[in-house]
Amino acid sequence: MKVREILVTSALPYANGYIHLGHLVEYIQTDIWARAMKAQGHQVTYVCADDAHGTAIMLKAEANGVTPEEQIASVKASHEADFDKFLINFDNYHTTHSEENQHFSELIYRRLNNAGHISTKDVEQLFDPEKQLFLADRFVKGTCPECDAPDQYGDNCEVCGTTYDATDLKEPHSTLSDATPVLKTSKHYFFDLPGFEQFLKDWTRSDNRLQVSVANKLQEWFDAGLTSWDISRDAPYFGFQIPDTPSDEPDKYFYVWLDAPVGYMASFKNLCDKRAGTENALDFDRYWAQENEHKTEVYHFIGKDIVYFHALFWPAMLAGSEFRTPTGVFAHGFLMVNGEKMSKSRGTFIKAETYAKHLHPEYLRYYFASKLSDKVEDINLDLEDFMQKVNSDLVGKVVNIASRSAGFLVKKYDGMLTEVCAEPRLLEDITKTGDEIAVAYENREFSRAMRLIMQCADKANEYIDEKKPWSLTKQEGTEQEVQDVCSVAINIFRQLMVYLAPVLPELTANAKEFLNVDDLSFASRNEWLLGHKINKFKPLMQRIEEKDIAAMVEDSKASLAQADASADTTSQVIETDASTEQADYQVDYIGIEDFAKVEMKVAHVLECNYVEGADKLLQFTLDVGEDKPRNVFSGIRKFYEPEQLTGKKVICVTNLAPRKMKFGVSEGMVLSTGNPKTQLTVVTLPDSCVIGDVLA
Ligand code: 2FM
Ligand code: ZN
Repeated sequence: MKVREILVTSALPYANGYIHLGHLVEYIQTDIWARAMKAQGHQVTYVCADDAHGTAIMLKAEANGVTPEEQIASVKASHEADFDKFLINFDNYHTTHSEENQHFSELIYRRLNNAGHISTKDVEQLFDPEKQLFLADRFVKGTCPECDAPDQYGDNCEVCGTTYDATDLKEPHSTLSDATPVLKTSKHYFFDLPGFEQFLKDWTRSDNRLQVSVANKLQEWFDAGLTSWDISRDAPYFGFQIPDTPSDEPDKYFYVWLDAPVGYMASFKNLCDKRAGTENALDFDRYWAQENEHKTEVYHFIGKDIVYFHALFWPAMLAGSEFRTPTGVFAHGFLMVNGEKMSKSRGTFIKAETYAKHLHPEYLRYYFASKLSDKVEDINLDLEDFMQKVNSDLVGKVVNIASRSAGFLVKKYDGMLTEVCAEPRLLEDITKTGDEIAVAYENREFSRAMRLIMQCADKANEYIDEKKPWSLTKQEGTEQEVQDVCSVAINIFRQLMVYLAPVLPELTANAKEFLNVDDLSFASRNEWLLGHKINKFKPLMQRIEEKDIAAMVEDSKASLAQADASADTTSQVIETDASTEQADYQVDYIGIEDFAKVEMKVAHVLECNYVEGADKLLQFTLDVGEDKPRNVFSGIRKFYEPEQLTGKKVICVTNLAPRKMKFGVSEGMVLSTGNPKTQLTVVTLPDSCVIGDVLA
């Protein structure tokens, strides 16, 4: 087998907040994948870091009365403690506020600049005269210019859905100081993303780098047109100063999103330095130099909200600065709890720390694994289902196999398993299923892997139920059979531990002790335990109790109420910009503003006729309450005789651009339901509808 050299990352959490269950979807997903690939014998390195820069972090530190450095150090420690609890096995956890990151951010910037990919432009922005800083849209509130709703943010109105520039708001005020912002111009640095359009079109469509739904979403962004990316922010800002700027310019800083992904490289470099000279030494260039692109693999696991940064800006920055680009970028969906967005008042906005106080982290690892696929779909943590599933699958099925067979073996046979396997077929079958499970892990189809594993567990339990070792022991002359049956069961259990090890590292480590084996790698499943001695069985997992879940929910409500009371205005602010507006990968939603663009009116069919030479069309003359009737063609001839529709009231889309057709110009569209291939039914309205009225 070829040992693959793989570098894996999860997105870097911001250093101004705690880790919650929504974050954990990604860290657990990546960690399971990294462990599964390691178990296959590959050389996998998993790195991450805190995302430490930006205005929000700077303001948070100020609100807490500490320096930004102190702020990010304490958050980093809390993040690391949370990750430890959830058994996230990073090879390195660093920070973007580091020497390595400064070095690579500057290097990349200088190379881009030298190659002509950086330009400058004056930008006019709202400025807080009291705080003396430029205000991102989220820090401005005012009255909606469209509907006059008060207290709306600077980018869009939550009441009428209109998007606008912060400068359009009526009576704007800064959320930081309440001062009225003023307009101020300053020079900004831009990265020439449009210059990479062709490269990105090829890159996003080749070598299975992206999920299909992500590539499709990117196509929409290409269609809408790429724009240059503003990569600078003015002082005061917590970040790295842009090098080589003219001396008469006020300080310019890299926008946090420029140096954040560079943090992947920086954390890896930090690890290379730590390991230099050891037997685990890593060669930085082997993973990042362009010429080594095909020797090693680099994968980023991310949430669907930051695809724009990872699948456009990041590869373009890397290609433009002569570094290799990622082998793959894998996006996942968001976490819902009980079918809804996480909610503080319902207690379903759950901090990692709060969860871990009440429930074992491996329950959640298993539950997420049973839900995760290679798709960009949201996953739902239904707390009732969570309890049922963990109790029935892990406690009821898996652990039960060991607990019901180990006792007999230890008591009666001194823990010895038989020399010969009594059911080689069954064991072979389960060993073989391992191949499919391995593929499912590699393809990030964890829910499939979990289903396959539970099918194996079902087979083992059926086998034990059929043989009933507990009643055999009460009969004479069945010693051999009891040992046979229990040995088969223990062997299957050991296979299951191999399969579950990436998901349940702690449980399987304890099982290793009980099984008296030192290897649970994927290959180890081929060596059956024959003539082998196991240790006394200790319970490996407790059932989840309803009261533990209830206590966690209550605790979440309480701890967040407290946090809210002391929160400053920036605590929930995240550092993204408009280009990353929530993309949805399942349904192509349109905003209310798009829907509102469609004008539909009640139309009276004055005439309806066949069209000579057109076997699909009917021609309508419609009164839509205007000076003259409209001429509209509709592809419904197969389904209607003209007389059936004459005199009826129908719905016409009246602001569709006129379309020139072979038989004349069509000035609208008549709405029908159904399928143009099989059956279409024209939507007709009651006579009481008034011609020309708009449908709303
Ligand atoms: O969205 C976020 O939470 C960012 N902190 C992720 C950064 S990922 C990478 F680019 F650094
Ligand atoms: Zn509005």
